[in-house]
Amino acid sequence: MSKTNSLSAMRRSPSLSRLLLAAIPLLCLIQTVSAYHMNPFFERNANPLPRPARWGPPMKRDSIPLVISNNCAETIWPAIGTQAGTGAGTGGFELSPGNSKSLTVSGDWQGRVWGRTNCSFNVAGNGASNLNGVDGSGAACVTGDCAGVLSCVLTGRTPITLAEFDLAGGTGGEQTFYDISLVDGYNLPMQVIYIPGNNPKLKNIPPNLTNAACIATAGLMSAPAGSGTSGNATTTANPLPYESRQDSKSIASWCPWDLQVKQPTKPGDGVYPYPDDNIQRPIFDPCLSACAKNNLPKDCCTGSYNDAKKCKPGLYSRNAKAVCPDVYSFAFDDQTSTFVIPTGGGWEVKFCPEGRSTNIINTFKSQLGALGQSGLTKAIEDAAANMTIIEEGAKKSGAERVRGEPAMGRGSLGALVVVVAWAVLC
Ligand SMILES: *[C@@H]1O[C@H](CO)[C@@H](O)[C@H](O)[C@H]1NC(C)=O
Ligand SMILES: *[C@@H]1O[C@H](CO)[C@@H](O)[C@H](O)[C@H]1NC(C)=O
Ligand SMILES: *[C@@H]1O[C@H](CO)[C@@H](O)[C@H](O)[C@H]1NC(C)=O
Ligand SMILES: *[C@@H]1O[C@H](CO)[C@@H](O)[C@H](O)[C@H]1NC(C)=O
Repeated sequence: MSKTNSLSAMRRSPSLSRLLLAAIPLLCLIQTVSAYHMNPFFERNANPLPRPARWGPPMKRDSIPLVISNNCAETIWPAIGTQAGTGAGTGGFELSPGNSKSLTVSGDWQGRVWGRTNCSFNVAGNGASNLNGVDGSGAACVTGDCAGVLSCVLTGRTPITLAEFDLAGGTGGEQTFYDISLVDGYNLPMQVIYIPGNNPKLKNIPPNLTNAACIATAGLMSAPAGSGTSGNATTTANPLPYESRQDSKSIASWCPWDLQVKQPTKPGDGVYPYPDDNIQRPIFDPCLSACAKNNLPKDCCTGSYNDAKKCKPGLYSRNAKAVCPDVYSFAFDDQTSTFVIPTGGGWEVKFCPEGRSTNIINTFKSQLGALGQSGLTKAIEDAAANMTIIEEGAKKSGAERVRGEPAMGRGSLGALVVVVAWAVLC
């Protein structure tokens, strides 16, 4: 979305703008601009009906489940931003390891979910406690922070892995769009899991067509399965087509050196003999996108670079796509990262899922196209269970490898900046 669109969206949504305005003094404390780059597919195929953003939760008869689960070893603070429709009635909360929170949003909700790490709030939840060393700027969390408050409104500080949803997209509002976006960077592994609900037409959508995952953190990813040409299952209970090439070592260094939020200290006081890629990185290694870091038209595909022919994926997005083939990684790869399915189901967003990154869109492109247009058919169900197709897809995912640093970074990333109110008004 462009700046003007984000402002007009706020005009349409009095409750949201009120909230934002109330929060401006707080938000202005933040030095880093939190910008949010929406997948342009959502806007090109937007529901034409106005859907004012409301805080929520929605009434029971218009509610869709939104479950947030923490499979990480540490506590995280998930956050929810609402762009349109009725939100969950909360913008974030603390979630300890192994726990889930069941929420609801309206059937026409559009918004996003991300995770915050290493937070320390004051008792009221309306500010940082400054006990975690992130003081000075008012931030309560090391990643994903939203002005130091527990309950977020629209988005958080980059880098963040985002789950983006438009539950009632398309001209008739009958399609659900979603993706996992690394356009604003990466902090935590994430999976989006479809909850079919009771609609018989939706109940049988095979999970291996819908449950995209991105695991780009070393040590949290399963090894490739050992049999067949490439193996085929992330977990036996929930088989998915998956990325087949990466291992813990390659995944440890996918983030271009300069884009690491905290670059590890180089040994030997600057006179070290190794390339950056040989330096041990921490397991938790949040990675800014080139756009989030540099905010240049070339990296963000804005201005004269707002053109698919001119704006090419840079090192960050190529590596992001290699470790997580299903993610939205730069402005113009929305065609290879947007899931479109019939509306009606609910969603679980799981942080630190088990298994591996998925390779669903490469594998089932034509089946997903048909599913989004005309719903589930026997042919789609058959294809989803066809091992030959899964194995072929896994082989194709191996084409992309994580690359090392080129002499000169050719970053280009992101598009359509939603510069959130505080960036405009501060
Ligand atoms: C910060 O959070 C990450 C992810 O939850 C965790 O791996 C890491 O250990 C935390 N760091 C500290 C200093 O708590
Ligand atoms: C792949 O799936 C087939 C059919 O479900 C199964 O027989 C085979 O063992 C699986 N291979 C791996 C490596 O998981
Ligand atoms: C895809 O999911 C369906 C439904 O759960 C399952 O029957 C099928 O075996 C899965 N495909 C593979 C290759 O595992
Ligand atoms: C599985 O897919 C392959 C490749 O598209 C096709 O040749 C084969 O007939 C399919 N198998 C079944 C059992 O449908």
